Amino acid sequence: MGDFADEGVFLFWNFPEYMIGRKEGIGMAVTIKSEREIELMREAGRLLSIVHEELEKIIRPGISTKYIDKVCEEIIRSYGCTPNFLHYQGYPASVCVSVNEEVVHGIPTETHIIQEGDIVSLDTGLIYKGYHSDAARTHAVGQISAEAQKLIDVTKQSFFEGIKLAKAGNHLYDISNAIAAYVAPYGYGIVRDLVGHGIGTRLHEEPQIPNFAQRRKGLKLQPGMTLAVEPMINMGTADVEWLDDDWTVIAADHSLSAHYENTILITEGEPEILTLGK
Ligand code: MF3
Ligand code: CO
Repeated sequence: MGDFADEGVFLFWNFPEYMIGRKEGIGMAVTIKSEREIELMREAGRLLSIVHEELEKIIRPGISTKYIDKVCEEIIRSYGCTPNFLHYQGYPASVCVSVNEEVVHGIPTETHIIQEGDIVSLDTGLIYKGYHSDAARTHAVGQISAEAQKLIDVTKQSFFEGIKLAKAGNHLYDISNAIAAYVAPYGYGIVRDLVGHGIGTRLHEEPQIPNFAQRRKGLKLQPGMTLAVEPMINMGTADVEWLDDDWTVIAADHSLSAHYENTILITEGEPEILTLGK
């Protein structure tokens, strides 16, 4: 045991303080990562930040969304890592490429060609020595409208507004409420059907992290929690639909949609953003 004695500590967040740290029991378990696990999460995040930097360089009109997937998988594997999206619940690719009104989980294909003026959300993740990272960015292809750029900027900034509150002692829904409050004046639709999540030895862990306003406080944040915070914002309605492929989520009114996500570490002070390069 030794170094690993503090691993796999579960926090049952629907339950009183006295249950914290127990492995048994019922309820929703949030893992607290040990120093050793945090180091692995840091490396998983650092490598993913480079994947995103590399993908940004190849985005241009004329490439297929499948080409983006091919490059993404190659880069991830070149680090000796594994793409965590590939085969996740049957998902067929290493990256979700969601264009314009597509919100998330767009499946790359040979026939979907990126066009000048598109906005393209890339969401991908990897596994490094058993630990997952997850991050998304929305890119402009060439010239886009001022409105589209504003949507991208507000979505990104909403993440940063949310995580200002992400520190030990605050509550989970402080993050949700900060995101919602920042976005509200713009009149955009904050997607409610999909949420952020805990992350660690699995891509999706407890807790779920909504991006819209909550009445309750949610669990108390503790150092060692690792969370994927990921606002998904539509220019029009918040409502979404699923395409027949059963993956691709689109804005119900076909308005533009943007996504921004990073894996973060809760500390006593500022959160550490694990999937952003220096
Ligand atoms: N980042 C995505 C999420 O947290 C993961 C997509 S799962 C996949 O929802 F199966 F689409 F890859
Ligand atoms: Co995610």
